[in-house]
Parts: sequence; C-alpha cells; structure tokens
Amino acid sequence: MTRDFPADFLWGTATAAHQVEGDNHNSDWWRYEHAPGSAALESSGDAIDHYHRYSDDFELLAGMGHTAHRLSVEWARIEPAPGEFSRAAIAHYRTVLETLRATGMRSFVTLNHFTLPAWFAERGGWLSHDALACFDRYCRRILPELGEFMDFACTINEPQMVALHGYLEGYFPPGETNPTLWKRVGRVLLDAHRLAVRAVRDESTADPGLVVQLPLLAPAREDEATQVFMRALRAEVVDLYLDGLTGDPDAGGWLGVQYYRKNWVDPASPTLFGTPPPGTRLTQMGWAVHPDGLRDMLHRAAKTGLPLYVTENGIATEDDAERIDYLESHLQAVARARSEGVDVRGYIHWSAFDNFEWAEGYRPKFGLIAVDRDGEFRRVPKPSAYALERVARSGDISA
Ligand code: NOJ
Repeated sequence: MTRDFPADFLWGTATAAHQVEGDNHNSDWWRYEHAPGSAALESSGDAIDHYHRYSDDFELLAGMGHTAHRLSVEWARIEPAPGEFSRAAIAHYRTVLETLRATGMRSFVTLNHFTLPAWFAERGGWLSHDALACFDRYCRRILPELGEFMDFACTINEPQMVALHGYLEGYFPPGETNPTLWKRVGRVLLDAHRLAVRAVRDESTADPGLVVQLPLLAPAREDEATQVFMRALRAEVVDLYLDGLTGDPDAGGWLGVQYYRKNWVDPASPTLFGTPPPGTRLTQMGWAVHPDGLRDMLHRAAKTGLPLYVTENGIATEDDAERIDYLESHLQAVARARSEGVDVRGYIHWSAFDNFEWAEGYRPKFGLIAVDRDGEFRRVPKPSAYALERVARSGDISA
C-alpha cells in the first residue's frame, strides 16, 4: 500500500517570536498593546517564555516525530535603535538556531513576523521613505551570522494581512483604515520580499521564500456588485502576490501557503466580510472551517510554478477533538492536491503551543500543546499533538 505522504515530506509546527517569547518591549506591538483604547485585548506579557525555554520546546517537538520547525527572529530585539544592532540578541538567536539544528529538524526562519521595531514604526513603518533600506540593512546584518542555521528563510510573514489588518481594517498597528495606504503598503511589502530574497542569496545558503495567507474568498451574494467587489479584494489579497511572484527571478525558491478559512465577501459589511451561511462551523476566531478550500488554494498557488509548503494551518478551539478533525480533514485536502499533481513538500501546523493571538490576546487556543501561563509555564501536549505525530511518523492520515 502506498503512503499518503512520501518519506521526505516535512512535518512540523510554527510559532512567531512575539507570540511566544515574551517581553518584546522595543516593538510596535508592545506599544500598541499598552496604548490607551487599543484594539488589542491584553498585553503579550511573558507570552509562554519561549525566549528562555526554546531548548526544551524544540526537544519536545522533535520527540514527537517532527522533521521541521518554523519560528521567527525578532527585528525589534536585534535592532532596538536605528542602525544600533544588539550583538547579544544576535548571539541569542544564533544559539537558538544552533539548538534547533542539533535536534535534526529543518528550520523555517521568518525574518519578519508582523512586529516592527518601535522606532521604525514611529517614522512611518513600511510607508516611511527609507523603509526598504532599513529592512535591507537588518537582513544583511543578521544573515551572515544566522543564515548558516537557516534551511528555509521566510522573508515577510503574510504581507497581505499586514496590509489588510493594519491599513484597511485598522485593528493591527498602525491602526489605519485607508484604502490608498492599504494598496500602497502591499506593493512595498512585495518589494521588501524581493530585497530580502536577494539578501538571503547574497549572504547565506538558506533557501528564501514568501509565506502568504491564502483565504478562500467567495461572494456573499450572487449580484454583480458583490462579485465585482470580491474580485477587487481578491486582486489585492491574493493575485497581487501570486502573480507578482510568477516568473520573477527574485520570487524566491518556494512558496509558503497559510490557510485557515473561507470568507464570504460582502460590500455591505463594515468589515468587508459577511456572516457565514447558517449552520457553518465557526472557530473561536469566528472563522468558517472549510477544508477543501486548502486544496483549492494549493492549486491556485501552484500556478506560480514554485514548490509549495503549507507553512501554517490550524484552528482556534477549546475542543481538542475538533482540532483533530480539522487537522485530519485539512491533511486529506493536502493529500488530494498532491495526488492531483500539486508539488506540496511539507505541512507545518499553526501552532505548536497556545500563544498570544495578537489583538485577540490569549483566549483563542491554536496550540497542539497547552501552556500553564499562570503557573510554571508547563507544556502539556493535547491529544491533537499525538494525532499529528502519528501522521508524521507513518506518512498516513488514517494510520
Ligand atoms: C497568521 C499569522 O501568521 C499568525 O501569527 C497567527 O497567529 C495565525 N495566522 C492565526 O491567526
């Protein structure tokens, strides 16, 4: 009998620095969390203290049969003031990545996962006149020291969500709701990705790629105006990036697909998205579960011609049986896309641990592993962690 997934398929989980490390004081997000009237529900605080516990965390994950791990390095720690690099922070990440390498897991290292140094945000963030030069300087400073421990370098995490949440919906910093800025920042981020690809290639042996969130978008109604609105939104959220990468020598070596949900686009809704049809299964985030959308988006992403990795996919729920169901049904979708010829080479689940879910704080539970944040930060794997382990070890979903 053939396996659902080949032996060299990569299996693992993802985190991001600000969501797990704790006390990221020099970042725009830390300021945002503490600003009066902030849309952020609570402070990230100590997060899950991964900053100090990374070694045990990696061991735990490797011990569950994982062959890859995705994490990010924190620009705000590394460059706390313009042009002033913390040698201690770089040395810390060098040790972190060395430790990860020693477990045998392949590393996917995100150079920028949502957070910015506060000084960079204060002078206009991605829209400041020298944003690209600053990002390039950061990349070229860290890659010679950290690059040798990066197997895959993820340039900028989900540029579309940085643009959408930060500049149109306004619930991520800088809290703008301006369609012109929204469109502008998306293009800047794509250029920043290209610069980072060049920096990774010049300064390291890592394989660079972009990681994009690809939600399945559907019109809330069948009328012409709704269809036109949906296509316009899709052009900004999906096509801009995927078409922008197609055939571009600076696209990178692979593409990371991050998929969570189906969205019904509604021009009449203040949030752009309408209420899902009655009976739709919703997560703690209010997101609609739709496993086959992952298969659709993998087919869409495959048109770039790049090899694909699922670099995020997961569910916020208190009900771990629901997480197992989500995991297995989405793995079926990946297996199906593969059997239809899509070149998907790995699956990285979001997330390893329950962690700080940005403006939503700690309530949404995305982790395969629970963390006792009020006590000793003890890590307790949930049954879903063992469900992923079974598939990772056997290559079969129903094993
Ligand atoms: C996308 C982001 O990359 C990650 O930071 C976030 O926690 C998850 N999706 C869930 O929203």
